[in-house]
Amino acid sequence: MSKIYVSTTVNGRPEDVLCEAHQTLLDLLRDEIGLTGTKEGCGTGDCGACTVLLDDRLVCSCLVLAPEADGKEITTVEGIADSQDGLHVVQQKLLEHAALQCGVCTPGFVVAAKALLDRDPNPDEKTIRYWLAGNLCRCTGYDKIIRAVQDAAQELTPTK
Ligand code: FES
Ligand code: FES
Repeated sequence: MSKIYVSTTVNGRPEDVLCEAHQTLLDLLRDEIGLTGTKEGCGTGDCGACTVLLDDRLVCSCLVLAPEADGKEITTVEGIADSQDGLHVVQQKLLEHAALQCGVCTPGFVVAAKALLDRDPNPDEKTIRYWLAGNLCRCTGYDKIIRAVQDAAQELTPTK
């Protein structure tokens, strides 16, 4: 089968990849580019573990065909940290609140929560729960995750 050339930018780096027409963006990231931070939970668009930003829109990368990423900018969990060694405040707060167990869902929550705080640095609890409704976690019970995002928001906007 002939391969398709995909030219994209991932976490600010140009990536030119040959892929099969049936491969997903999740396959492209993990198998062709080697960024395995993005996880596959369900593979059917139900869990949010594979969440990435595609031209600044949150998408389930298991539902996007790799050729659709041509010419687009992608941000994965590997591109979220503020510096090479540091963590984004959302990641730091998830750690501090012990808001993860197996961690399969965590990259998706990190990407989604960061996207929320970029748009709304001062979200109320209802907004956080609504925004993260597409991200499922079978381990934590959610409360610690919500507290972590609230704490991250507090750190970003300490005067609220
Ligand atoms: S792996 Fe993509 S939504 Fe579950
Ligand atoms: S920490 Fe295991 S699924 Fe969320």
